[in-house]
This record gives sequence, C-alpha cells and structure tokens, in this order.
Amino acid sequence: MNSENLLVTGGCGFIGSNFIRHLLADGRFQGRIINTDCLTYAGNPDNLKGVKEAHPERYFFEKADICDMDALRGIFNRHRVDAVCHFAAESHVDRSIKKPDSFVQTNIIGTFNLLEAARGAGSRFRIFHHISTDEVYGSLGREGYFTEETPYRPNSPYSASKASSDHLVRAYHETYGLPTTISNCSNNYGPYQFPEKLIPLIVLNARDGKPLPVYGDGRNVRDWLYVTDHCEAIRTIMEKGARGETYNIGGHAEMENITIVEMICDLVDEIEPAGAPRRRLITFVKDRPGHDRRYAIDFSKLSGELGWKPAESFASGLRKTVLWYLEHKEWNERVRSGAYQSWIREQYGEG
Ligand code: NAD
Ligand code: DAU
Repeated sequence: MNSENLLVTGGCGFIGSNFIRHLLADGRFQGRIINTDCLTYAGNPDNLKGVKEAHPERYFFEKADICDMDALRGIFNRHRVDAVCHFAAESHVDRSIKKPDSFVQTNIIGTFNLLEAARGAGSRFRIFHHISTDEVYGSLGREGYFTEETPYRPNSPYSASKASSDHLVRAYHETYGLPTTISNCSNNYGPYQFPEKLIPLIVLNARDGKPLPVYGDGRNVRDWLYVTDHCEAIRTIMEKGARGETYNIGGHAEMENITIVEMICDLVDEIEPAGAPRRRLITFVKDRPGHDRRYAIDFSKLSGELGWKPAESFASGLRKTVLWYLEHKEWNERVRSGAYQSWIREQYGEG
C-alpha cells in the first residue's frame, strides 16, 4: 500500500479501531493515518487508547461527520489525503428496523460525499476501499454460498443502504475512473465490538446472570470471521486488489446462533464458574422482522488471486474473545453508559 496519507473513516468503531491498530503494528504500511469519526453511540475513542502516544507522527484524529461535505473537503486538503478506507456506517440491523433515517444519511449520503471528496483530490488519489457486508446478497437456503456474482437482494434497511453505497462506489469507478475496491464480509467478532451485537451481548449477559435473548428458533446461520483476519484481508485488497473489483471475505465458520450461545455459556462457566450453568439463561424471543436465514461466503477469488486466508479458528477466536470481554470491565461499562443507555430507554422504555 503506497499511500502517504490514508483516511480511515469510522476508526473509533469496532472494525475500524482494530484496523488502525493492525496497520500501525504492521511494518508494511509506512504512511500516516487520519481517523475521521463523528463518535456516535458506537464510536468510542477508548478503542484507540495509547495509539496517538505510540505513533505521534503517524496517527491523527479528526472528529467529523461524513455527511458534512465541507468538513470532508477540509480534511482532504489539510492532510493531502491520497487513499480512503471507508468503515463509517450505521451498522446494527435491529436499529435500522426501528429507525432507518440515519442509515440512509450516513451509509448512502456519507459514502457519496466521500466519493466526491476523493474525486476532487485529482491525480494524487490512489485507492478508495469501501467496506461492505455479505447482507447485500440477502439470504441463502440450506445449500450454496455467496459469490461476487450473486445478485443483490438486501432485506433490511441496513443492508439496502449498504447495497446502495456499493453501487455508488462501483459507479464512481466506471464513470469517473476513481480507483476503487469493495469488500463484502461476513459477521466479525473480537475485541472492541459494541455489546449490542450477538457475541459480546451474550458474553456480558451470561456473566451478569441476565437472560440470553435468542431470536426465533435460534437456527439462523452466520459465517463468522475473527476481526484481525478481516483487517488483514482489507490490507491485502488495498495493496494488491484489482481496481474496480469486489472481493468477498468470510471465515468458513458457519454456525447456528443457538450453538454459539451455548458455546459462550460453557466458556463463561469455565472461566468464571457460577452456582448453576449459564445455559439456563437462554431465552427464545420474538424473531427479527425479515431475519435472513443463512449467510455463507465463497472467498475463493480473494484466496486464489490475492493469497489471503483466515488464520484464526472459530473455537480459538471465540475463547480469546470471551476472555477479552471478561477482562475489560472498564471498557464494557463505559460503552454501555450514556448515549447507548439513552437510546435503549427511548426505544424500549425505562427499566
Ligand atoms: P461500528 O458500528 O462498530 O462502528 C461504526 C463507526 O462509524 C463508529 O465509530 C461511528 O461513530 C462511526 N460513524 C457512524 N456514522 C458516522 C458518520 N456519519 N460520520 C462519521 N463517523 C460515523 O461498526 P463496525 O461493526 O465496526 O462496522 C464497520 C464497517 O464494516 C461498516 O461499514 C459495516 O457495514 C461493515 N461490516 C461490519 C461487519 C460486522 O460484522 N460488524 C461485517 C461486514 C461489514
Ligand atoms: O453479516 C455481516 C453483518 O453482521 C454486518 O454487516 C452487520 O454490520 C453486523 O451487525 C452483523 O449483522 P447481524 O445482524 O448478523 O449481527 P447481530 O450480531 O445483530 O446478529 C447475529 C445473529 O444473531 C442474527 O441472526 C440475529 C441473532 N441475534 C442477535 C442479537 C443481537 C439474536 O438471536 N439475539 C440477539 O440478541
């Protein structure tokens, strides 16, 4: 990756913060990173604690909303941005069902603004990498995998907004020749994931003896990928991917939700034993509307053409992840306070 000034959007979120740490620890990238994030409930500067102190000449933070075009142009000019890795998004499907507005704004308009700013940077601009999701492809039956050729059939406002942004990125390559790449990845897990997503939510509720909500019959399938494997895949695509191309990223780790919840219960029992098994806390609740049944990724294009494959197994990655959440009490308390709690009260009422 021969960028000198890489703009990372959404770098205070789960995957963005892991990506910044990954890149700065990795001798192969020598440039500066400018992290732009507007710090929504999901953006937590603590995710990058110590990074500025360790890399004062290479890491910069600019608080800005990607929906603010003037702010973006200012950042592009001040930092002479020559590459973008675009994570910033509203990312949680359940929130998009209750309140789609900010998904349309950030995921579609925000991406459009970034593309315009990148186009305005002219010939110095090298690469716009757009982070997207396997959810744009809709749902699979029992058989088969999503490939890069699978038609888009998004089922939630979240996935529809991500699909829209993918189309804009593709169009900017075809129409204006902007050097772009897109990746569509499966479910990530690991440190610094906001505890509204399945895995951290279940770990913390299991630790605290709270109900463990499983939607529907618990037999929906996701293909899980440890977050640093995703980060390395992104780095690889930005460095070696063909411009204008899309790459699927997955973990070959298909799991039913109920199996994951049971595995977490057993791990928490082993690490922090309680009087009774945590599995007793499992509570089947009303299903998510439009809940996609199964995701599974064929990532043979990425492995065959660019040589990437996941390093972490699901069993080892899940154990590391459970340990991380149990060991980071302060982080958990902080991100679960304030704006997040207000939102929950607003949506679900007091108590
Ligand atoms: P996240 O919700 O943890 O983080 C999103 C970040 O974007 C936060 O720091 C937030 O403050 C910031 N942000 C939101 N709106 C913004 C705006 N208008 N301007 C500037 N910053 C804004 O999300 P994540 O799980 O880290 O996902 C990152 C990206 O990866 C998203 O584009 C998501 O669609 C994609 N993705 C996620 C997964 C997954 O399993 N989490 C899988 C595939 C793809
Ligand atoms: O597939 C990639 C996508 O993975 C990303 O694009 C999204 O940003 C990310 O949020 C994630 O979406 P999911 O909807 O799959 O993740 P979530 O953790 O919300 O749910 C995982 C599965 O667990 C899903 O089938 C719904 C179920 N679930 C979720 C929660 C929060 C439950 O059964 N109970 C819960 O409490």
